[in-house]
Amino acid sequence: MDVQAVITAAHSVAIESDWRQALPALSGTLVTLRELRLSDAPSLLAMLATEEVARFISPPPTTVDGFERFIAWTHRERRAGNYICFGVVPQGMDTAIGIFQVRQLEPGFATAEWGFAIGSAFWGTGVFMDGAKMTIDFAFDVVGTHRLEARAAVANGRGNGALRKVGALQEGILRKSFLRNGEYLDQTLWTILDEDWRRAKSVWGPRIH
Ligand SMILES: CC(C)(COP(=O)(O)OP(=O)(O)OC[C@H]1O[C@@H](n2cnc3c(N)ncnc32)[C@H](O)[C@@H]1OP(=O)(O)O)[C@@H](O)C(=O)NCCC(=O)NCCS
Repeated sequence: MDVQAVITAAHSVAIESDWRQALPALSGTLVTLRELRLSDAPSLLAMLATEEVARFISPPPTTVDGFERFIAWTHRERRAGNYICFGVVPQGMDTAIGIFQVRQLEPGFATAEWGFAIGSAFWGTGVFMDGAKMTIDFAFDVVGTHRLEARAAVANGRGNGALRKVGALQEGILRKSFLRNGEYLDQTLWTILDEDWRRAKSVWGPRIH
């Protein structure tokens, strides 16, 4: 290995291992993505534990304590290198009103799955797109993901609309793959490949961030 290759390898190891110590704060035009804090628990409870937000996702905690335990769990899983959870903080606020999550589907995150939930007061405001672009960039550029999957219940109009809008491709239907309220729901499998994202970015260019 030549000297440049050694430096490049050392640099990428440093960046890759860095997020396991602490997530960086990422600034977009409308929101900052940052590590969740225990003090976000009341806001996350108010924003995410509502019928309309929780309808098509795994049931969120129903108490402040429950969200504090969830936040502590996100830190442990991040330190273990399994999972990343960004809090979504709109400009001018200091508590999180939603989350973007990325979990590895195989060791090393080459294939990974992302998911998101935002308080309904912020739906349709551009907050989703701003946070989504930074999360996807982070997965491909920092974490080293190659294929980013997402699953959305077929009946989840906004979830599927959001994934289509961000440029994900629909690969198929996962029949009766998600148990919610005692009923198995079909889910749409959406994917983004790193090469597709980079190509799209070169076209969108200035619109990213
Ligand atoms: C998913 C979520 C983060 C998206 O954020 P959002 O602010 O609602 O998303 P946006 O408004 O930017 O984009 C949604 C798109 O879906 C479209 N849409 C809304 N209802 C739709 C429906 N029934 N069918 C198809 N598309 C629909 C919207 O028109 C919008 O597209 P547009 O901006 O081109 O008009 C948010 O709705 C949410 O937190 N939902 C609850 C949690 C959840 O379901 N998470 C997703 C799990 S996959």
